[in-house]
Amino acid sequence: AAPTDYQAEDATISQGVVESNHAGFTGSGFVNYDNLVGSYVEWTIANAPAGPADVTLRFANGTAATRPLDWTVNGVAGAVGITYPGTGAWTTWVTKTVRLQLAAGTNKIRARATTADGGPNADKLTV
Ligand code: GCU
Ligand code: CA
Ligand code: CA
Repeated sequence: AAPTDYQAEDATISQGVVESNHAGFTGSGFVNYDNLVGSYVEWTIANAPAGPADVTLRFANGTAATRPLDWTVNGVAGAVGITYPGTGAWTTWVTKTVRLQLAAGTNKIRARATTADGGPNADKLTV
């Protein structure tokens, strides 16, 4: 199927806030992860076929330090320690793709911060 965009600001957010103060996002804003271990964004993807899928996060990181995320699908580890390096500015948005194994039907794809810096600012997921 053609890739579909899932906005971060429409996803389930734990320990993060929707903001729109850094230009260049799509949709109505982005998620600012709280800067702590364990903050996450979880997208619900319906009607997926079972099998590997390319999952692309559009993000910005205006710091010099990389902001790793662990990805899970329906609670199962998928991609661990994926790095989201500095993009030069909070208004500079780039994409990074991970391959995740999806189940048939509904998938809850979670991107969880693993350092005290939290995650990068998250604009959207494309699946
Ligand atoms: C700044 C920036 C936020 C970002 C935060 C961070 O406050 O405005 O968008 O999330 O830094 O370091 O995580
Ligand atoms: Ca933040
Ligand atoms: Ca967005």
